[in-house]
Amino acid sequence: MLVNQTNAQIVLSTITTRRSTKSIAAPGPSADQLDLAFKAASHAPDHAALRVWRFVTISPPHVEVFAELAIAANLRAGQPVTDEKAASIRKWLKNVPLLIGLAYQMHHDHPKVNALEQSLSMGAAVMNLQNSLHAMGFGSFWSTGLGTYTDEVPEALGFDTLDYQFVGFLAVGTVQGELAPALKRPQPSEFVHAWVPNA
Ligand SMILES: Cc1cc2nc3c(=O)[nH]c(=O)nc-3n(C[C@H](O)[C@H](O)[C@H](O)COP(=O)(O)O)c2cc1C
Repeated sequence: MLVNQTNAQIVLSTITTRRSTKSIAAPGPSADQLDLAFKAASHAPDHAALRVWRFVTISPPHVEVFAELAIAANLRAGQPVTDEKAASIRKWLKNVPLLIGLAYQMHHDHPKVNALEQSLSMGAAVMNLQNSLHAMGFGSFWSTGLGTYTDEVPEALGFDTLDYQFVGFLAVGTVQGELAPALKRPQPSEFVHAWVPNA
């Protein structure tokens, strides 16, 4: 048994109280806190130990520079951003103390680990990251806006799109004001069933 009852309750309570929060501001996590969160990310399930996960951190004042790059990249890629949307992106990112770019290394034609499994491992790593940031008192929001699906944005962040799949950003910081009402979560009976063999 790896965890005792009390630890299990704490872990479960952390997981089940996490919710995405877009309204965040400084302070963000310290370097040590971020290191702990990335260590947790590296505990994602990982078939054949490919270590596909990659993260890039963007901190102020570079967040605002990046916002302009992302808006322009969207336009150049033929994905128009309305003035209203651009204003809302700028307003949001002006207060964000940490953006984490999320990518994974693609192992093309791997004999045992197909593309889906590599993608799932990255999703699990991001989940560990979000849960551990929440455990340390920070809010986070996973977004696939900001030019995620252009070539220009991942490449500007150091990810050659021939070798890396970019999967968005985590905005991280201290939750502002009241938390939004919790989303209603489905009951396990709505998405779990037990298989029984045919008689
Ligand atoms: C891969 C991925 C990409 C997402 N991209 C966006 C996005 O671009 N914009 C958005 O409003 N929500 C996006 N979401 C959803 C939010 O991050 C969040 O999960 C959702 O608001 C539900 O909140 P919850 O995490 O508390 O359940 C994305 C979620 C995932 C898993």
